[in-house]
Amino acid sequence: MARSNFIIAIDGFSSCGKSTVAKALAKKLNFVFVDSGAMYRAVTLFFLRHSINLRDQESVSDALKQIHIDFIPNTEQTQIFLNDEDVSLEIRRMEISNYVSEVSAIKEVRIAMVAQQQKLGQKRNIVMDGRDIGTTVFPDADLKIFMTANSEVRAERRYAELTAKGEEVTMEEVKANLEHRDRIDSTRAESPLRQADDAIILDNSDLNQEQQLAFVVEEYVKRKK
Ligand code: DC
Repeated sequence: MARSNFIIAIDGFSSCGKSTVAKALAKKLNFVFVDSGAMYRAVTLFFLRHSINLRDQESVSDALKQIHIDFIPNTEQTQIFLNDEDVSLEIRRMEISNYVSEVSAIKEVRIAMVAQQQKLGQKRNIVMDGRDIGTTVFPDADLKIFMTANSEVRAERRYAELTAKGEEVTMEEVKANLEHRDRIDSTRAESPLRQADDAIILDNSDLNQEQQLAFVVEEYVKRKK
C-alpha cells in the first residue's frame, strides 16, 4: 500500500549545514525533524563512557541493548536524550566527533539505528538528515537532497560553531577531523555516504540560509502529494 506521509531525506558531508536546512524546512512545513547524526553521537557517548571495545562484537551488541534514544521534536536546538539524560550539548563535543565515524561504521550499530530511524518515519511527515537516509533508511523518500559545500567553508562553519560554545580547538584540528570523517563515512562497507541516484544536489558554498530553504521548498512543492 502506498505511504501517505511525506518523507524528505537530506544527506551530505560533515558540516555542510544539513541540520540547519532540515530544521528550518521542518519548521516551515510543520514536519518532524530528526537529526540521525545525533543518534550516532549518542551511541558514541555511551560507548566512551562505558569503555566499550569497538572490536568486540558481543560487547557492542550488549551495549546497544542498553541504549534508549529519545528526541523532543521541533525545538530550536535538537534535544536528544540518552537513557532519559539530556545529552544534547555533550554529543557536540570534539571528543565525540573524533570517535563517531568509527562507531557509526560498525554493522550492529547501523542495523540498530536504521531500524529506529525507519520507525520514526512510519506514519509522520518527516525531514531526516544524515549520510544514508536517501539510500538506505528511506530509499523511497519523496524528496532527496544531497548537500555539498567546499571544504574551506565547511571547516570555517564548524570552527565558528565550536568556539561559540567555548570549545578550545584550532582550525587545523577541525579541518583534520572533517577530512577524517568524510573519508571514513564515504569508504565504510556498511551504507557509505553516497548520493542517491534520484537525489538533487544542493551546493551551498555561496548560498545563505534563506536561499537554501527556498531551493528545497521549491522542490517540495513540485512533489507535494
Ligand atoms: O551529522 P553529524 O556530523 O552530526 O554526524 C556524526 C557522524 O555520524 C558522522 O561522522 C557519520 C555518522 N552518521 C552516519 O554514519 N549516518 C547517518 N545517517 C548520520 C550520521
